[in-house]
Amino acid sequence: MKINWSGRAHNYQKSDIDFLVKIIKTADPLTQGEYLKKFESDFAKFLGKKNVFAVSSAAAALEIISLLLQLQKNDEVIIPAHTYCASAIPFARNNAKIIWSDIDLKTRTVDIDDIIKKINKKTKAIVIVHLYGYAVDFSKIVKICKKRNIKIIEDCAQSLGAEVNGKKVGSIGDFSCFSFHAQKNITTLGEGGMVYVKSSVLAKKVKGLRHNGHSSYSKNRKNYWLPAMGNLDLDLKNKWPYKFTLSEIQCGAGIVMLKKLKSLNNLRIKRAKKFISKLSNFPEIIFNPSFKKNRHVYHLLSALYKPKKGINRNHLFEILNTKFNITCATQYFPLYRYPLFKKMGLGKSYQCKNTDYFFDNMISFPFHVWMSEKEFNYLLKSTIKSLNILRSKI
Ligand SMILES: Cc1ncc(COP(=O)(O)O)c(C=O)c1O
Repeated sequence: MKINWSGRAHNYQKSDIDFLVKIIKTADPLTQGEYLKKFESDFAKFLGKKNVFAVSSAAAALEIISLLLQLQKNDEVIIPAHTYCASAIPFARNNAKIIWSDIDLKTRTVDIDDIIKKINKKTKAIVIVHLYGYAVDFSKIVKICKKRNIKIIEDCAQSLGAEVNGKKVGSIGDFSCFSFHAQKNITTLGEGGMVYVKSSVLAKKVKGLRHNGHSSYSKNRKNYWLPAMGNLDLDLKNKWPYKFTLSEIQCGAGIVMLKKLKSLNNLRIKRAKKFISKLSNFPEIIFNPSFKKNRHVYHLLSALYKPKKGINRNHLFEILNTKFNITCATQYFPLYRYPLFKKMGLGKSYQCKNTDYFFDNMISFPFHVWMSEKEFNYLLKSTIKSLNILRSKI
């Protein structure tokens, strides 16, 4: 048997494909039509919030958010260094001075106390990344941020459906983004995203920002073709709009997959719990602690492997790969260690102790939801065998 790192989150069923074929055959327009409206209204119901807008990716959503923040030079934005690069790039591009925050070694998500230490007069925004599918409890900083007018952005790219204190991630902060990229808990045919904007005033600017500034003329125009078929306008000082739209077929995929999110997440949770409990006799490998319902929707199944007597996670990678044909992954390379961030002046090395330690000692198991039960059990048994082999070497 062989288990690779899959580039797709899930499979579509016949009824999903039939629905998409209907859109391919009949939708007119093929973009910005009824399926976009339906996907947005379904998502708004799911999140329990108005002001949600479908966009081409979570990176696009973050780009829009960073424009709406109207950052000035030297404004600081606090972002965990342990995340995917898109959590940071849009803010850096739009004036922000990035301040890297560390993670909590237990949760492997941003350390709220470290954020608090880094807040100062220049702080304008904080990015909370609900990484791996795990919902970060950031209630401790909500009051502080309100008082200082610091905006909270929730990056929920990996955590669709996760909840904290009874609330869905992405419904608590001032802004949030979601991803429907190929590997996420649901995907809109490979790419896609959603942006939520709490302020109704700022929300009015999103449609223009995502679509080249397209906006409507007043309804009482005498001739629909004058002064032009459509207007271009944007009420955001010195900012140019983008083209970040999602096609009708992608929105159709969003509609069908959103309905399945709960059952897909439940399967992830069930398998993750089984995997973790079966490995509970191996204290050298540490997963997130167990959580109440939906706190963790296990976008990824990652663990810390504690090195001992020269045996480390690289040995675990090697055995799984060479003996059992299983490809795992390392995630996430501390952003300040990448040449890109170093060249852009954001590469102050080794300033986040836990970020470095976790990356250097972690392993992420393949965890695509379409993996068969047989493959999943093979993954589990092979991991147990590999851990036993490593024990015999110590
Ligand atoms: C934490 C996080 N934020 C943002 C993104 C960007 O998502 P997208 O690929 O939809 O732009 C990703 C994608 O992997 C992510 O993992």
